[in-house]
Amino acid sequence: MTTRIIGTGSCLPETVVTNDDLAKIMDTSDEWIRTRTGIRERRLVKEETTASLCEKAALRALENAGMTGEEIELIIVGTLTGDYVTPSTACQVQAGIGASRAAAFDVNAACSGFLFALHMAHAYLQAGIYQNALILGAETLSKIMDWSDRSTCVLFGDGAGAAILKRDVTGLVAFDLGCDGSRGQALSCKNRLNNNPLVSNPISLDFVHMAGQEVYKFAVSTVPGSIGKVLEQAGITPDDVSWFVLHQANVRILQAVAKRLKVSEEKFPVNLDHCGNISAASVPILLDEMNRNGKLKKGERIVLSGFGGGLSWGSALLEW
Ligand code: UT7
Repeated sequence: MTTRIIGTGSCLPETVVTNDDLAKIMDTSDEWIRTRTGIRERRLVKEETTASLCEKAALRALENAGMTGEEIELIIVGTLTGDYVTPSTACQVQAGIGASRAAAFDVNAACSGFLFALHMAHAYLQAGIYQNALILGAETLSKIMDWSDRSTCVLFGDGAGAAILKRDVTGLVAFDLGCDGSRGQALSCKNRLNNNPLVSNPISLDFVHMAGQEVYKFAVSTVPGSIGKVLEQAGITPDDVSWFVLHQANVRILQAVAKRLKVSEEKFPVNLDHCGNISAASVPILLDEMNRNGKLKKGERIVLSGFGGGLSWGSALLEW
């Protein structure tokens, strides 16, 4: 037995912000953003929250799977931008979709969050502890951006993606997860500082800092190796894979990985043109778009891969 994805869903905020919109409020241009990254526009929250995006994505995934919230036994949300320190986003989703039987918690593995949630849920299902799970990757990154730092704020967007998992005879085939904490400062955002009576630090809020080129080099050197490991575990080659659904950080990273694996770029679907980089949400939103557009055929082999903050990475091979 293994674990199969039996439904997907996603939700983007209503407000579209184009590169030209950003160029009106900071020193940037559509030309710079498009040519360096491939991003044309992104969605940013106004009234929406991480939990509200998750709830809509989860309900769409449930509908796609033909299930109800009451049937769900486990909920894991990959996020670094939950609305509260507590309750977790997963607990909010549990209440929002009426999943009263489900255990629910969040996992923070930044841009690899959906892959880590997938692996964790797979382990629970394979151990026979639960029969099904709802997993999500969701972010409202716009609230942790430094909107005076053009080198980071233009890259990111907000949104949520969800998948329903079930024990089945086909599905997930192989995994590779990894981290290099020694390079964590390349992509960082401090939590609130300690304000207890023993500490004299002033309260200050931090925002995302990224050494873009360092993270870029990490991605193009680590991701092909991680994908290579899952293919090796399954005894197949990149040519046997129909789709490489990668974290959407930069179209140049997708092209570089395709080149390293010696496969056509056409096997690397892209949605960062209209979504930007949504960290943990990138992979499940892209998977849902492909599913709803009828691109995924039963029996096709698909590689999922996330990479980023931590630094962390995770890849999975599955049969659709
Ligand atoms: O999701 C987690 C994983 N994240 C990633 O994988 C991101 C990986 N990194 C990247 O995708 C790229 O490094 C970036 C897109 C972040 C940056 O691209 P780059 O080609 O590495 O540009 P750069 O940082 O070297 O900056 C080049 C120039 C600089 O100007 P000078 O010093 O050459 O005069 C920047 O000041 O571009 C300037 N610049 C901008 N110009 C217009 C930086 N941001 C902007 C901007 N608009 N928004």
